[in-house]
Amino acid sequence: MADMATKRIRTAVFPVAGLGTRFLPATKSTPKELLPVLDTPLIQFAIDEARAAGIDRMVFVSHPDKGSIEDYVRHDPELCAHLRAAGKHDFADKLDTLSLDEGDRAHFVMQTERLGLGHAVLQARPYVQEEAFAVILPDDLILGEKGCIGEMIEAHARCGGHLVATMEVDADRISKYGVLVPRGGQGERLTHATGMVEKPKASEAPSNLGVVGRYVLDSAIFDQLAVQQSGHGNEIQLTDAIAATTGAVGLAGYRFSGIRFDCGSQEGMLQATLHVANMRGLMAERRTPALALVG
Ligand code: UTP
Repeated sequence: MADMATKRIRTAVFPVAGLGTRFLPATKSTPKELLPVLDTPLIQFAIDEARAAGIDRMVFVSHPDKGSIEDYVRHDPELCAHLRAAGKHDFADKLDTLSLDEGDRAHFVMQTERLGLGHAVLQARPYVQEEAFAVILPDDLILGEKGCIGEMIEAHARCGGHLVATMEVDADRISKYGVLVPRGGQGERLTHATGMVEKPKASEAPSNLGVVGRYVLDSAIFDQLAVQQSGHGNEIQLTDAIAATTGAVGLAGYRFSGIRFDCGSQEGMLQATLHVANMRGLMAERRTPALALVG
């Protein structure tokens, strides 16, 4: 493949400008990315995953109506001082650890018109420039022993090009996903591909490998996004730009090891909450029928 990744991936883009209609009315005033799984907002899981992968530059593509995301992400020395003055050092320590500081180099760029995920990623271009970079969609929560973007960055060092996170999806749900077009057979984790199709009908799906919200992209994507026409849903689709640049830079799907929860949907958020509660040993003594969902 062209442009083998010799440099470390150090930038992650977090597209967080979406409307979150599936979570209305909650998202009328609270951004979807700040909805919590128990006590932890989705955006925090995404930031922690990026940090664990060695990312030190984070670019949040947000919307002017979602200013509370920046309030959440930035360090709040006043609040921490207040907590310490009240003797609440545990909470202050926790906030100190979780917030981004100058060392993390967090940037916010606004997508004032919601023209689609591809258009959102394009807004991050000035901060990424010519390097390969990661994209993390915080509403796709992926939990596992290894962070998803970390294992993808390791794999990308070997294959270069575009790398997208994939999982096997049943035929009755495949039309909700971008779907990989495999080139030859599927590997254990890595499947080389000739392209991707956004939300195909089940009868036209090129494989059962659905693409979820983690990407490592060659910077060639930006020139394509700048000219990309609207596609499915009349939005500028990241999927279409990946497909259009596959011939030039190459594409593979990476079957990640963790479990993915679609926290943009009510069902996924509920499953994630039960899973995390189970992991933390909450309700261990009083297993409810609902907990049977997560084993
Ligand atoms: P979704 O398809 O989940 O859209 O976007 P959404 O608006 O967030 O939620 P629903 O479907 O209305 O309930 C996938 C990701 O792309 C971002 C979203 O913030 C989410 O992380 N996105 C989408 C943008 O940043 N800008 C856009 O124009 C569209």
